[in-house]
Amino acid sequence: MAMNICHRLCCSSGYWAKTVEPQGALAQRLQSKYGDRARIIHGDGADTGLPTADFSSVVCFTMMHHVPTPPVQNQLFAEAFRVLQPGGIFAGSDGVDSIPFRIAHFRDTCNPLDPQLLPDRLARAGFVDVEVEVKHGEQRWRAVKP
Ligand SMILES: C[S@@+](CC[C@H](N)C(=O)[O-])C[C@H]1O[C@@H](n2cnc3c(N)ncnc32)[C@H](O)[C@@H]1O
Repeated sequence: MAMNICHRLCCSSGYWAKTVEPQGALAQRLQSKYGDRARIIHGDGADTGLPTADFSSVVCFTMMHHVPTPPVQNQLFAEAFRVLQPGGIFAGSDGVDSIPFRIAHFRDTCNPLDPQLLPDRLARAGFVDVEVEVKHGEQRWRAVKP
């Protein structure tokens, strides 16, 4: 699952989530597996086409390093900001750059976020209360749309 965009607490509470996945075959697989609980959108998290200020949270897990360039990553942050309601949360996790991480992505897109730069990048997208934590080769973040 790629970028999840949620109305309130998704799934368990009966609310719907929307998942944006750019790979067509994967989007179809997600649709058949989770289509009863989520709407799967075959598209790009940097340009979802979803309504503005309509969602309570956006989450990205193990995904940002697959977004090909820092400017496109910044577009994705801006898109997360756009679709969130005031008070909405943008959260995620991803690997931190390392030689093993690079080897695991040999011949694959690998553009890991620099956790030192992430707070400023999220602030530039408009987020406040940005928290970034790095632990055991992983980073996770949480930020709020004011
Ligand atoms: C390593 S998988 C992670 C899958 C899942 N989130 C997990 O943690 O198991 C990365 C996913 O991000 C998706 N992805 C890459 N670029 C994307 C983008 N611009 N918008 C949304 N999803 C994207 C890929 O197609 C892939 O499904």
